[in-house]
Amino acid sequence: MAVLEGEHLTKRFGGIVAVDDVSFSIERGETVGLIGPNGAGKSTLFRLISGVQEPNEGTVYLDGEDITGMSPHEICHRGLVRTHQIVHPFENLTLVENAAVGAEFGGRSSKNAEERAYEALEFVGLEEMAHTTPNELSVGALKRLEIARTLATDPEVLLFDEVAGGLDTEETEAIVGLIRDIADRGKTVFLIDHVMRALMSVSDRVLVLDNANLIATGTPDEIQNNQRVIEAYLGENAGDAIDDGASAGAGAD
Ligand SMILES: Nc1ncnc2c1ncn2[C@@H]1O[C@H](COP(=O)(O)OP(=O)(O)OP(=O)(O)O)[C@@H](O)[C@H]1O
Ligand SMILES: [Mg+2]
Repeated sequence: MAVLEGEHLTKRFGGIVAVDDVSFSIERGETVGLIGPNGAGKSTLFRLISGVQEPNEGTVYLDGEDITGMSPHEICHRGLVRTHQIVHPFENLTLVENAAVGAEFGGRSSKNAEERAYEALEFVGLEEMAHTTPNELSVGALKRLEIARTLATDPEVLLFDEVAGGLDTEETEAIVGLIRDIADRGKTVFLIDHVMRALMSVSDRVLVLDNANLIATGTPDEIQNNQRVIEAYLGENAGDAIDDGASAGAGAD
């Protein structure tokens, strides 16, 4: 059964159509990648799903329930949470306090927020730094803290917006490992990334947005060999880019 569905989603900003009549369906437990050029509408689609912005048209269903127009807080309570493309932790809170904010926000489990925050930090490998502040963290560790913040809400569906962006190979591997662990626990993952090797290696299926429109859906193999996707985004050296672990697209944040 589909856990997350979008039907005819459209979002306009003045004269700009950021998301244009996009429909998709994601099964429980699936890991689905979302790719496309800068400005294609990927983050906007995630904001429509997570309740940060309301679509002009269309409907979002979580577990078959219409969640369109609900607040991020209500949607988080129902089990869907997203990471932010640009990470802004609370600088003067410790890591465990930062993660506990996520736990309080979600508030889905009877366990107390601090307990869930510790578990989440342990899961992402930051437990030893639990009582330090985020300014001591590397970019990779900040991304893992952002993942911990979402895990502390006890989610069923996680939307990751460029959690491997701007990381070195080792840090990217760590993030890929975490995404696999999360998926192995039966969670549903929907992720945006320009790091093709990472995204293709974790995704069961990939959706491609170009200029606000969904132009392709398929397995990673199908997408990498789709002529329209290669022209719109992957470029003629798609195979090389993937082998090198290089980012496709312009890569700006
Ligand atoms: N709040 C806003 N007001 C006006 N225009 C916006 C707003 N948010 C996004 N846009 C525009 O909508 C389009 C889609 O932007 P979006 O951030 O969703 O792209 P993206 O696919 O996530 O790109 P990137 O890969 O660079 O993160 C762009 O043209 C962007 O300038
Ligand atoms: Mg984006």
